[in-house]
Amino acid sequence: MGGPAAEAAELRNLLRKFNIQYYAGDGSEVSDQTYDALMNRLLQLETEHPELRTADSPTNRVGTVPLSRFGTVSHDPPMLSLSNVFSDDEFRAFYNRVAAELGSEEVEYSVEPKLDGVSLSLVYENSVLIRAGTRGDGSTGENVTLNARTIRTVPLRLNSNSPVSVEVRGEVFFMVEDFKRMNQSRDKPFANPRNAASGSLRQLDSSVTASRPLTFYAYSSGRYPEGISNQRELLEMLVEWGFSVNPGNTFHCHAGSVIAACRDLEEGRDSLPMEIDGAVVKVSSFADRERLGWLSRAPRWATARKFHAREMTTVLEGISVGVGRTGRLTPAAKLQPVKVGGVTVTNATLHNIQEIQRKDVRPGDIVIVRRAGDVIPEVVSSIPAEEGERGEPFRMPEECPVCGGPVATPEGEVNLYCINPSCPARLKRSLQHWASRNAMDIEGLGEKLCSQLVDSGMVKSIADLYTLEFHSLVALERMGELKAANLLSQLRNSLNRPLSRFITGLGIPGVGEVASKDIADRFRSLENLRNASEEELAGIRGIGPVTGSSISRFFKSSITGRLVSLLESAGFNPVQPVDQKRDVLAGEIVVFTGTLSMPRAEAKSLAEEAGAKVTGSVTGKTTLLVEGENAGSKHQKAVSLGITIITEEEFRDITEKGAHNLDERP
Ligand code: IVH
Repeated sequence: MGGPAAEAAELRNLLRKFNIQYYAGDGSEVSDQTYDALMNRLLQLETEHPELRTADSPTNRVGTVPLSRFGTVSHDPPMLSLSNVFSDDEFRAFYNRVAAELGSEEVEYSVEPKLDGVSLSLVYENSVLIRAGTRGDGSTGENVTLNARTIRTVPLRLNSNSPVSVEVRGEVFFMVEDFKRMNQSRDKPFANPRNAASGSLRQLDSSVTASRPLTFYAYSSGRYPEGISNQRELLEMLVEWGFSVNPGNTFHCHAGSVIAACRDLEEGRDSLPMEIDGAVVKVSSFADRERLGWLSRAPRWATARKFHAREMTTVLEGISVGVGRTGRLTPAAKLQPVKVGGVTVTNATLHNIQEIQRKDVRPGDIVIVRRAGDVIPEVVSSIPAEEGERGEPFRMPEECPVCGGPVATPEGEVNLYCINPSCPARLKRSLQHWASRNAMDIEGLGEKLCSQLVDSGMVKSIADLYTLEFHSLVALERMGELKAANLLSQLRNSLNRPLSRFITGLGIPGVGEVASKDIADRFRSLENLRNASEEELAGIRGIGPVTGSSISRFFKSSITGRLVSLLESAGFNPVQPVDQKRDVLAGEIVVFTGTLSMPRAEAKSLAEEAGAKVTGSVTGKTTLLVEGENAGSKHQKAVSLGITIITEEEFRDITEKGAHNLDERP
């Protein structure tokens, strides 16, 4: 046995062990988060290799058994789980099966964001909340009535003329912002919103629950209320009674449209105000649901279209130390390749030595890797390997791993820095940063070429880029005449970049792209900027005294100040043109949909540069929908809300030309 089979077996053993620890009362040696990541990995393996599935696999488990410290509630009908689909093809199989069984293609589905929280059952008698229970094992849950009553979005009495008796089910979770705010005021911050929601709901002292900003969204009922025949009507009824329902719920009749809606949700997930881990697709009609029935643990009329997991486990092969542009030494995890959020990850940041020690991460350990949106993957936590198989505890090097030069921790810092200003690693990173998109935007000057230029000794500072000659460039490996000529012309063009990009490129500590723009808008020329006093700098919106003095020091320092002079000798005289584009979309709340011809991130930053706020899903607050090819469900939603819709081309026009007549549109 080896490969996936061995891994699956090991995961099963670990999960079983942690399960037992958990229920035996001593508490598990790993966090719920780690447990979930292990479970995710096992699920993934079992999905990719169905032959590895076993009847006793922990992946078969539905919920958790109730803890005895609470009274119990029984659920009738049981609170069941959902089957999962992991791909569009798997979804189509589900869709076709439903169509075949109902003998019709005209089936309406609801597509609902799958909230990553804990489910809760609320029993109302004569419109009054009399009992609240967790799911537990599906049949029996914990009685958390007192706690549920403290949640502001749980109605204590239903809004109805005639008394209603009904069981409403939904999800308890934290809005991301609420979660962050709560964590800021805690000594020991919660690691993840879902575990925090679960823990907060299951407090023996309900005043603790009351102090946690939980939210409840309703999405189903125990039995269907009288006079209601589908999910659409149910959601409307729930709202009427006073519940919050997810604003991202939509309805669809065709497989393609359902798939597009799920994709829209996944693409927009980073800008949603809460964590979602999938989309729930449900046949809307209750009569159709009856006909389709149930399997042992899940309805056959609904499924969860799971999104790419953001956390996965893999094995830590080693720890290496990199040196950044500022000289900072950063430990990085070298990982056995693993797919996280749809991308293969082999490296992840371990942040700093304190973090490594705190997490006690060592080579050989199983680590949890998290990747969300565009951020760099990170190691969240680890499960120690057997003692004999673990590597030594990691120690930071005593000299720069690249140049061998001295390292030091500046006052008030925790990180180690290489203090050799001509350290090749620092230089390479500085060049890359100088050439990057948001700075000088020099195409073709990427990581490899920067390394070549430094290693060959041709470039000893950023300014040397501008003394490069054709004949020496062509001599470089993999260069060629065309590439060399292109690079030289790119470099020449970069001499005319606006001041803001020049400042960004310098990489002054604390000064990113946004600050660079603000500084450039204020001073307009390099000359003015150099003569600016610390007070003037600190007075710019968003800059402050620390960054102000950092900028001032940068221009005064013999090394960096000299770099700026050398750049001027190379032909730089950067100024900031008056910007008409700025603010053409000020106050707009923009959503993108469909396939755009530019990367989403680029479209997003174009919109933001023009003053707009970009969000992921169409809501009442949205003011502008920008559509690429094959726009999905967001289109209908925008139409129904009367939101202005423009094409990608129009969007480009507006952001490039800096003028529009959106206000004259219907
Ligand atoms: S329907 C039988 N709708 O996902 C119907 N569940 O994996 C099952 N969930 O226990 C519930 N958002 O905690 C439903 N819009 C939604 C949901 C949702 C999140 C959770 C819920 C459930 C789990 C099933």
